[in-house]
Amino acid sequence: MNVLGIETSCDETAAAVFSEYGLLSNVIASQAIHRKYGGVVPELASRAHIRLIVPIVQQALQDAGLTLDEIGGIAVTHGPGLVGSILIGLNFAKSIAFSKNITYIGVNHIEGHIFANFVEQTELKPPFIVLIISGGHTQLVYVKNLGEYCTIGRTRDDAAGEAYDKVAKMMDLGYPGGPIIDNLSKNGNDRYIHFPRAMLNDDNFDFSFSGLKTAVLYYLKKHTREEIVQHRDDIVASFQAALSEVLIEKTIRAAINKKVKNIVLAGGVACNSNLRKKMKQHAFEKKMNVYFPVPLLCTDNAAMIACAGRYRLTRGEQSSYNLSPLPSLTL
Ligand code: KG4
Ligand code: ZN
Repeated sequence: MNVLGIETSCDETAAAVFSEYGLLSNVIASQAIHRKYGGVVPELASRAHIRLIVPIVQQALQDAGLTLDEIGGIAVTHGPGLVGSILIGLNFAKSIAFSKNITYIGVNHIEGHIFANFVEQTELKPPFIVLIISGGHTQLVYVKNLGEYCTIGRTRDDAAGEAYDKVAKMMDLGYPGGPIIDNLSKNGNDRYIHFPRAMLNDDNFDFSFSGLKTAVLYYLKKHTREEIVQHRDDIVASFQAALSEVLIEKTIRAAINKKVKNIVLAGGVACNSNLRKKMKQHAFEKKMNVYFPVPLLCTDNAAMIACAGRYRLTRGEQSSYNLSPLPSLTL
């Protein structure tokens, strides 16, 4: 079955086609308009989705070498995310599904991030622990079987990507902050400042990053502009080290607790080069395997939505036309 995936939950307008042979096309338009505001402006995001949705879907079909008549199913994000943004993709998907009589299914965006790991990797099989780290979510999930999720830990305040974006904003580095801090940190001394590792030794799998963000803010307030400019890379590298250490330590502990050998990363922060490298090193010491998607499939995309939707559609699942956007949908 050829499945057309559509993703519009935040500031990426994306469409992709996933077939039994794998990914046939993957088109993503990242809305640059939000950069000057240092974060996503919901109203602007919705308007941009309206402008982009038709050409992006057309491009995905063209790249796949298919027409709509050759599409057997449509998968579309219906939550979580920005309600106005989700509405555009969801209504567009419903319209084509209805007019062409194609089955369609609403996909949970977080499940989509997990499925990003199955777009190109065929050897990965449950059970595994997945660390979902994005701009809106940070959670540790035990996946016993595909489609069966047990959340064992989550952030109590900021998401990991949110912490990256806020620290970058405080330091006027640009948006989104994750990739910028990732790059600058490569030249920095990550032991320059010892920022707090909140909840590291707590007997649970939860996280908290707002204290880390505040610690960076206090550091910036206490030092002169010259000192901050001179040590910019050391400051961001030290922030990144604190955040990564907690993520890695708790993920490994979760895998030990659930007696699984496979650790999976998902979401935009899973692009982080330092986290990918260190997670592999630590997992190797414990004889565990680490899986993560290629960077383009870690951040928001429609390939992951098509892949998750195809899994459910081929099991006979589908959604009704009453399906609403669910901005706070959980896994
Ligand atoms: O999954 P995603 O594209 O959107 C959400 O569902 O939230 O994740 C976006 C987040 C942003 O906070 C961004 O700063 C972060 O992922 N990010 C990174 C990197 N690339 C993107 N964080 C750390 N290192 C990166 N290389
Ligand atoms: Zn996402």
